Amino acid sequence: MSIQQPKEIFLKDYRPLDFEIESVDLTFELDPSETLVTNRMKFVRKTDQSQLKLDGEHLVLVSIEKDGKILDQEDFYLTETDLTLNCPEQQFELVVKTRINPEANTRLEGLYRSSGNYCTQCEAEGFRTITYYLDRPDCLSYFTTKIIGDECENKVLLSNGNLIEFGELEGGKHFAVWEDPHKKPCYLFALVAGNLEVVEGHFETKDSRRVDLRLYVQENNLDKCDHAMASLKKSMKWDEERFGLIYDLDVYMVVAVDDFNMGAMENKGLNVFNSKFVLAKPETATDVDFEGIESVIAHEYFHNWTGNRVTCRDWFQLTLKEGLTIFRDQEFTSDMLSPAVKRIEDVKRLRSFQFPEDAGPMSHPIQPQSYIEMNNFYTMTVYEKGAEVVRLYQTLLGRDGFRKGMDLYFDRFDGQAVTVEDFRNAMADANQRDLSQMHHWYIQPGTPKVTVTKQYDAGNKTLSLSFKQTLNGKQEHLPLLIPVVFDVLSPSNEAALSFSLSEVDQSRCSRADNGWLFELTKHDESLVLQGVEEEGYLSLFRGFSAPILLDYACTQDELVALASYDSDSFVRWESIQTLALMNLIENVQAVEDNREMVLSEYYAKALESNLADTSLDLALKSLAITLPDESYLQEALSDKGMLINTDSILAVYGYMKQTIAEKFESSLLAIYQQMQSSEAYRYDKDAIAHRMLKNRCLNYLSKLPAQQDWMQTQFDQQSNMTDVFAALEAMKPYDSVWKKANLADFYHKWNHDDLVLDKWFALQASDQSDSALDLVKSLVEHADFHYTNPNRARSVLGVFGRMNMKGFHHASGEGYAFLASEVLKLDKINPQVAARIVSPFTQWKRYDVARQEKMKSQLTKLIESGSLSKDVYEIVSKSLK
Ligand code: PHE
Ligand code: ZN
Repeated sequence: MSIQQPKEIFLKDYRPLDFEIESVDLTFELDPSETLVTNRMKFVRKTDQSQLKLDGEHLVLVSIEKDGKILDQEDFYLTETDLTLNCPEQQFELVVKTRINPEANTRLEGLYRSSGNYCTQCEAEGFRTITYYLDRPDCLSYFTTKIIGDECENKVLLSNGNLIEFGELEGGKHFAVWEDPHKKPCYLFALVAGNLEVVEGHFETKDSRRVDLRLYVQENNLDKCDHAMASLKKSMKWDEERFGLIYDLDVYMVVAVDDFNMGAMENKGLNVFNSKFVLAKPETATDVDFEGIESVIAHEYFHNWTGNRVTCRDWFQLTLKEGLTIFRDQEFTSDMLSPAVKRIEDVKRLRSFQFPEDAGPMSHPIQPQSYIEMNNFYTMTVYEKGAEVVRLYQTLLGRDGFRKGMDLYFDRFDGQAVTVEDFRNAMADANQRDLSQMHHWYIQPGTPKVTVTKQYDAGNKTLSLSFKQTLNGKQEHLPLLIPVVFDVLSPSNEAALSFSLSEVDQSRCSRADNGWLFELTKHDESLVLQGVEEEGYLSLFRGFSAPILLDYACTQDELVALASYDSDSFVRWESIQTLALMNLIENVQAVEDNREMVLSEYYAKALESNLADTSLDLALKSLAITLPDESYLQEALSDKGMLINTDSILAVYGYMKQTIAEKFESSLLAIYQQMQSSEAYRYDKDAIAHRMLKNRCLNYLSKLPAQQDWMQTQFDQQSNMTDVFAALEAMKPYDSVWKKANLADFYHKWNHDDLVLDKWFALQASDQSDSALDLVKSLVEHADFHYTNPNRARSVLGVFGRMNMKGFHHASGEGYAFLASEVLKLDKINPQVAARIVSPFTQWKRYDVARQEKMKSQLTKLIESGSLSKDVYEIVSKSLK
């Protein structure tokens, strides 16, 4: 048995470069299986070290030339991962020729083919599969790229920057030369070639320059580009207004490709996108898809400053660009749609996906301290928790203070590769504040817990609040700076109670837009509110002011009150979620003790008041009546030290949905009917909220035999994909002839459209009927299933592992065996995607003993296969530790 042990890379080992590359001149002679890359680099030596080690993988070295002289075999040393040569000169030029095979590249990093076109993906370390290079983000250089290709097969030839030359060549070929005027690391390099069509637009910058906007897509998708183009223009305008950041080239290009490992990539001036985040029209895309496009277009655009102009020193600093850019796209979406809804959705996402990651074997700080495969660290932690940490600065400094910090950050670091400390210092210096304690958020893994207790002294009219922070169940951590935004509400008249603070406390607690801001800095700390007329209700962590778990023994009466009238929409929603969660947990216990389940009267009361509240925003109403995600319940159970029996969880959700539907049938039906609209699809806040609430009601109504026809009626109307898909979702639990007939219809209507077909696959991969497991096995046999297409693999295998509790956690263990064997197949084709698909196994310790053993034995089998990629190896081996 051979168990591979790939090398671990550590942040503490970072050393600056010995050589700089002043300029890179690339020539690509495109050929599907034999592309020739000529790479001319001008080097400058910066230290005494004369040994130059270039990264390179999956390459055929054709020749290497230094200062015009061809080098012999003995002049350099070549391995599978690098090329070393002695370079005592101060300055020298290397010309390296390599041959690569784009067609055989199913890993989808470096140069590859997708739907007959050429494209590249270089982040994090893909450039080294194109040519030998110093493939690290602190190596900044000026790039010029010449592309030569067959004219009939490659109408467009694109790379970063500006087109400076093009023309015809003999033999049916043509060429284009692109020059990027901005220095960049090679992970931002891009090349695209093929027969693509273009949709053009333009944007006038605030300093009156014209920027040409071009979306490149396949011809049959030309009718699905309007939304992406509109989103791009909105993003450009927003970044000018909110952050004063203006685009810096004359052209901005976005290319949609069908085969892409991630969402999209911010290559300088030439973004490459998963077509899922570009293409949409109301008939093919849901509201969630439209929102996804708007935010990913914004995200990649915002990277032009946060990521490209100022980049990362090394990959341990990834959150410097990703946490910050996610924060920026969250703020953008919040301004475009509803701030309250956006905040709640982001918190849900963080809790459902980042909290479990942080509690599992892959837990890492937002600045990881080591990695085996960098691609495994594009995580919810680095991205989403990273964004929460950036948000902390804004909460502490206010919007204006945050903006000052951003301005200083760009003044200081434009054109450089920097660290998270540099960012923090800019925030601190611009606001004359000591923010050094913020460092503790960057280097410690795990979700902090804040325990709050209150004590009211009626005689002295004081309300004492005490706060305690723990991390991973202990208080041994470096204490975190935690902004607690709160208020105290009168139980009698819903208003905020007034109070005063001692002089000392005034320095720790001040007025904020949405209440009071208390800065918790120690392990244990308390705050005394003076002159408090009555024992109030505490509205804590308003707007989710820090990414923590709150432990506060709130009475259910208090929660019902907050759930009904707190002016902070986050706390209002949170209170009803907490009531639901308490109810769910009680019921899990009931199932396990063989007792009857109940719908708690408190939760029911909160549901009732939210359903009846006519002044409540429709989207917030929809969120209020939605049960917490299953993964959030699992998280809560684990936090209580309980093992998860998925059969109980399924039973509890089944019961709760059914009971809520029965109890509130008439209001759900009334709302469902009120929300109907005969207007054409519009993508705006209001229309989205209507559909969201309508479809939430439909989902409950579908549990009631007397109301089941609504699903079919809504499906038959075929008004837009949001509504059609919601109808299909509602049908999912039924093992019925009509569900199958509708799915067949849907397939016939849409099998020519890959993105819609992905939905068809995903819907069935998350099937919760009794045949869930057999169904998913049949999906991988389907003629339209391809392991080589990441979206398709994720729609079936990713969805199965994450969202199919019934099938994946089937007591027989067959679901586990199925997914593990699929991971092995996929790992040979695309390790990055395989590593994502294997991740549900990392949570094995949470489940009941029988399931734990079955999951663990699959992990062991994977390791023992002896042939895992670094990507899958890292996740599996860490899970078994
Ligand atoms: N940098 C991309 C983003 O977040 C993500 C990405 C990483 C894409 C690695 C491809 C490969 O915007
Ligand atoms: Zn990003």
